[in-house]
Amino acid sequence: MTTQHFSVITIDGPSGSGKGTISSMLAQRLGWRFLDSGALYRLVALACQNHAIELDNVEAVVTIAAHLDVQFDTRTQITRILLEGEDVTDTIRTETVGNAASKVAAIPSVREALLARQRDFLGEPGLLADGRDMGTVVFPDAELKIFLTASAEERSKRRYNQLKDKGLDVNLADLLNEISERDKRDSERVVSPLVPADDAILVDSTGKGIEAVFQQVYSLCEERGLVKTGAHSAAAI
Ligand code: C5P
Repeated sequence: MTTQHFSVITIDGPSGSGKGTISSMLAQRLGWRFLDSGALYRLVALACQNHAIELDNVEAVVTIAAHLDVQFDTRTQITRILLEGEDVTDTIRTETVGNAASKVAAIPSVREALLARQRDFLGEPGLLADGRDMGTVVFPDAELKIFLTASAEERSKRRYNQLKDKGLDVNLADLLNEISERDKRDSERVVSPLVPADDAILVDSTGKGIEAVFQQVYSLCEERGLVKTGAHSAAAI
């Protein structure tokens, strides 16, 4: 039996490091598939909320994770995410769901239940995987692993500006506290903690604009021979 090999680039890092934006820009530019693994943890958290399941009821949370009814509709420019048929694209991005996601993500059997689902995203011409443990656990053989960071202060400021732009009333000190708490929970958990893979390249986005970070990451892809002739123009259509 032969196993098919697909190219994979992983981008891991903490919330607010810019990894979501950089990953989706890169997937588009390369014309590759895209896995936003954080969305899966957010979906589990939201499904628990919708079914009134307490997050400390581990067995019930794992059942939700194993039977998650989710569809990614990529026909529109922004992928729409449907949970049990309902469009939850915006709902899963709230701070409440993000915090609950980080709690369900600390349950080992939830992570196990989502493993195969994440690997199902593999395919031609390649996969860009964004998360916390993409390079360490889910795709350890990835061709290129990037660990994107930024200081907690800068990350909370970015989040503050995003939420302000959406017209939400937010407090910078509260956001910094929440981000620091989430970082701590993500880095100190026993399974798949947020740590760079041994062979990951560290990119610090503190004080840099998105374009500069994107160029740095794109150059790494070129150096590894991951940018095929034609990918550029195809993705730009
Ligand atoms: O990246 P995002 O903020 O959407 O992820 C939400 C939460 O899901 C994170 O705080 C983290 O706890 C969890 N997560 C994870 N492993 C991943 C992706 C996300 O534990 N690969």
